[in-house]
Amino acid sequence: MNRGKIVSIIGAGNVGSTVAYSLAMQGTVHEIVLRDSKPDIAWGKALDMSQAAAVIRGHTKVRVAETASDLADSDIVVITAGSPRKPGMSRDDLLLINAETVRSVSRDIYKNCPNAIVIVVTNPLDAMTYVALRSTGFDKRQVLGMAGLLDSGRMASFIYEKLGYGSGQIRATVLGGHGDKMVPLHRYSTVSGVPITDLLSGTQIDDIVDRTKNAGAEIVGYLQSGSAYYAPAVATAMMCETILRNARQIYPCAVMLEGEYGYNDVVTGVPVVLGANGVEKVIEVTLSDEERTLFAQSVGSVKLLIDTLSDRRFFGND
Ligand SMILES: NC(=O)c1ccc[n+]([C@@H]2O[C@H](COP(=O)([O-])OP(=O)(O)OC[C@H]3O[C@@H](n4cnc5c(N)ncnc54)[C@H](O)[C@@H]3O)[C@@H](O)[C@H]2O)c1
Repeated sequence: MNRGKIVSIIGAGNVGSTVAYSLAMQGTVHEIVLRDSKPDIAWGKALDMSQAAAVIRGHTKVRVAETASDLADSDIVVITAGSPRKPGMSRDDLLLINAETVRSVSRDIYKNCPNAIVIVVTNPLDAMTYVALRSTGFDKRQVLGMAGLLDSGRMASFIYEKLGYGSGQIRATVLGGHGDKMVPLHRYSTVSGVPITDLLSGTQIDDIVDRTKNAGAEIVGYLQSGSAYYAPAVATAMMCETILRNARQIYPCAVMLEGEYGYNDVVTGVPVVLGANGVEKVIEVTLSDEERTLFAQSVGSVKLLIDTLSDRRFFGND
């Protein structure tokens, strides 16, 4: 008999628990496993979600991984474990703390379910995806970061807000690293196939691009503590469903580049075909000179983070 699909989530905070809840309500996953450095919180959420699944007469079980070996047999593992910046801490300090967390949980995953597909969500996203790959023996197709789908969704919502029509027909495209230097591609952003450049003025598009780049900060500004989690979680759950269904659809994901777009040994957001093996294919879209320059700046900002980790001997501490 075919065993059901198992998705494990490391970090049962805002994003992790909302990914779990989305998947539990979809009902396509047999088991969801939560793991957190605060196991009681994970248990509380797991029980609550199992009961929610029972209310909708679903079959998804939600349990807690008390030890890393409880992750065995996972088809997908999502990493959302991380710490926010504390007073007096620099961005580089936070980079190193989250890199250590991601390295440690990635090794646990590799040891206990080496065939799983790993979706990294922890920030800084591109650098953390790099850490998950470089600290383990995972194949580059197995490890990918979630950001492009979220950034594209954010851009689509702003396009709809400006246009006032086209809901459900908007396809926005964002490439590059998940940071201030992400590259929203308006040439590849359409409403029912019509490029937005034919529907909106240059100033309106510039507003949309700026708002997309600052969308995360805009939400943090309102929430004051914590950051966005509904859209990030839904985007992550969609990636899980696509992999589990082997849907082989194109999504923007952060992946390791080995020659594509002329870059090597760096993770950044590009369109990929997503399927049962994870990254089935990297798609190389044609970029204009201006887009190529912006993409280079974005990749450069990810390289800086990776270099910071190297300078702090992160990759030499094995
Ligand atoms: N990629 C994206 O687009 C995107 C979007 C939103 C958030 N994020 C990032 O996702 C991460 C999680 O965000 P959040 O809002 O859920 O934060 P959160 O603080 O609510 O949750 C983080 C959880 O990780 C747990 N944790 C910390 N270290 C751990 C470890 N070693 N093992 C297991 N669990 C551990 C904490 O106990 C906490 O429950 C952050 O780094 C955030 O910046 C990324």
